[in-house]
Amino acid sequence: PKTLIEPFRIKSVEPIRMTTRADRERLLQEAHLNVFKLRAEDVLIDWLTDSGTGAMSSRQWGAIMEGDESYAGARSYYRLEKVIQDITGMPHFVPTHQGRAAEKVLFSAVCKAGDVVPNNCHFDTTRGNLEFMGVTALDLVIAEGLQPATLHPFKGNIDLERAESLLKSEGARIPFGMLTVTNNTGGGQPVSMANIRAYSQLLKKYGKPLVMDVCRFAENAMFIKMREAGYENTPIPEIVREMFSYADGATMSAKKDGMVNIGGFIVLRTDEWLDGVRNGLIMMEGFPTYGGLAGRDLEALAVGLQEGMEEDYLRYRLRTAEYLGERLEAAGVNFVKPTGGHAVYIDARSVLPDMPIAHYPAWALCNALYLEGGIRGVEIGSVMFGKRLEDGTETFHSMELVRLAFPRRMYTQSHFDYAAEVIAEVKDRAASIRGVKITKQPKFLRHFTCECAWV
Ligand code: F0G
Repeated sequence: PKTLIEPFRIKSVEPIRMTTRADRERLLQEAHLNVFKLRAEDVLIDWLTDSGTGAMSSRQWGAIMEGDESYAGARSYYRLEKVIQDITGMPHFVPTHQGRAAEKVLFSAVCKAGDVVPNNCHFDTTRGNLEFMGVTALDLVIAEGLQPATLHPFKGNIDLERAESLLKSEGARIPFGMLTVTNNTGGGQPVSMANIRAYSQLLKKYGKPLVMDVCRFAENAMFIKMREAGYENTPIPEIVREMFSYADGATMSAKKDGMVNIGGFIVLRTDEWLDGVRNGLIMMEGFPTYGGLAGRDLEALAVGLQEGMEEDYLRYRLRTAEYLGERLEAAGVNFVKPTGGHAVYIDARSVLPDMPIAHYPAWALCNALYLEGGIRGVEIGSVMFGKRLEDGTETFHSMELVRLAFPRRMYTQSHFDYAAEVIAEVKDRAASIRGVKITKQPKFLRHFTCECAWV
């Protein structure tokens, strides 16, 4: 088959600034060996996140001029509400400024200290918001989901047996079950329709609602279309509609499959939690018809949600991750297989087999990619998910991954080719890569702001 091309052409460009290795050594040192502290203009290829970083379309920019900035009852709110109701089949829509705000508003209305919330894998803000309230956040992804090399078409699936035994033993403490599509923390891996359906039925049997974290619902739907029997010829909007049909509510970071730079929302099937949610929204975010966003943001999202479900776009989108995976395979670099929707996750333990976990191999690899080629990825390992305990000892994460997450519609194939070359060079020089120790850290979400030194 021919090369699968980007299904768009470029109408507006933003130059990137070249740097030398000597520049980058100095810049990383000034950033206390934490790539979150770099200035973006000192990064050549910014694959820190796919969140809010994509390129909007000319249609979206056009829609921005239509924004109704009224405080209450803006036209833009009703336009977006209709789009979201059509996509999700859920009647109640509550806008927030991004995903974690949706989580905070919903959890504040529904959870209390001592509760337990199961998920395939909680994203870091989801876990952070729950733990901050004294709620236990449990990850119950299937075993394959934690094995980088094991092939499975739906590595994001939740382990239904473990979910059921939890419902039996801790049922009284569970306000709802969650499911993250795609499973970001586990490698951007999809959840099958069969798993969503079965989990929803299981929760129902125990009288519990299902709340989905749907940041990447369109990518998940495309994986279902490509991999799950019976969906080969189903249009994406229909797959999406079925996915949502099993849920009672959802939180969304529109900065992903909403194709916008800022935005989020909650959707709910019944009005049971609605008053609590809207009251919290007014305190934390804004009036219910804008929820922390400008009218123009609501307009851009109404267009972006539809563009994010276009099949040509999604086919190209999943292919970019797969393509980089093929290049890494050829270079002998291990990564989470198969590649996920929005990112490639390099298995740092396989690149740095001799580095002790206490020296944070994924963090070290992340730094090396920046030094070698100006590429910024993110560590998903023991800095992000480990903890320093009161007695000074540490807990570690089960995987040491470096995530290269791709902004939507932004980088072309030559950027990917360049990155593959850089990664191969880093692998060849693995013996010279240095680990780090953490010299300063906050209590929650330490990866964002911690300071490090070479060990
Ligand atoms: N849930 C998932 C699965 C996410 O990936 C994110 C964000 C959120 C919730 C929170 O949304 O950023 O709008 O507040 N993930 C980004 C990332 C930050 O880089 O993966 P937010």
